[in-house]
Amino acid sequence: MNDITSREYWNNKYAATDELIYTDVVNRFVKEYCEGLKPGKMIDLAGGEGRNSVFFAELGWQVENIDISNVALTKFLKLAAERGVEGKVFANCADATGFESVLTPVDLGVVGYLQIPMPDLADALYCLIDNIKKGGVLFGVWHSLDNLSEGFGGPQDQEVLPSVERIREMLAEEPLEIEVLEVRDGQVQTKDGLKPSKTLVLKAKKTAN
Ligand SMILES: C[S@@+](CC[C@H](N)C(=O)[O-])C[C@H]1O[C@@H](n2cnc3c(N)ncnc32)[C@H](O)[C@@H]1O
Repeated sequence: MNDITSREYWNNKYAATDELIYTDVVNRFVKEYCEGLKPGKMIDLAGGEGRNSVFFAELGWQVENIDISNVALTKFLKLAAERGVEGKVFANCADATGFESVLTPVDLGVVGYLQIPMPDLADALYCLIDNIKKGGVLFGVWHSLDNLSEGFGGPQDQEVLPSVERIREMLAEEPLEIEVLEVRDGQVQTKDGLKPSKTLVLKAKKTAN
């Protein structure tokens, strides 16, 4: 495991400020692709401070935020209490590559910006898929490999950047029907103003247990 996948790295990052590093606003792609789903049980894998978890809890979902950083999860529980949804959420401090869920099996598994080496990401996705019900939905969003050459921001290490091809190959044997797997254009704020960014999105339905 390299540094960016360690608990210490993430705890130090989250402990450096009382502010929310990733804001309290749901990710635009999570909102666009998942807002219309019928509420049930969901896992927010690598959910961090919980901007997406709280969004789902407010929509009526029962939410389990699984993250390697206990500091992030403490911030998440505070955010959930401030938003009045503490009764709808669980925090589970665990490694995404092999976790035991308290809400399993779930109707929806979301993974947002889990930028880890591809073999670890494959383990995380397989574990997440195992915990989704037949007919349930898997949704993922990442800084794309394309961002290295055509975009700005995000990790600069190609080993932690998935692409359409990498995800397609990773999921080839999984019981999934892929509905969306594409690179979307976005923008990031840099010191030189707004610049283009490339975001990979995945939406799939689980077809068997
Ligand atoms: C860029 S943040 C994104 C957080 C959140 N998904 C969001 O969009 O706001 C990446 C998150 O992945 C978590 N993480 C990194 N490696 C992990 C691992 N192996 N298992 C579980 N969580 C991990 C970090 O603690 C961090 O909260």
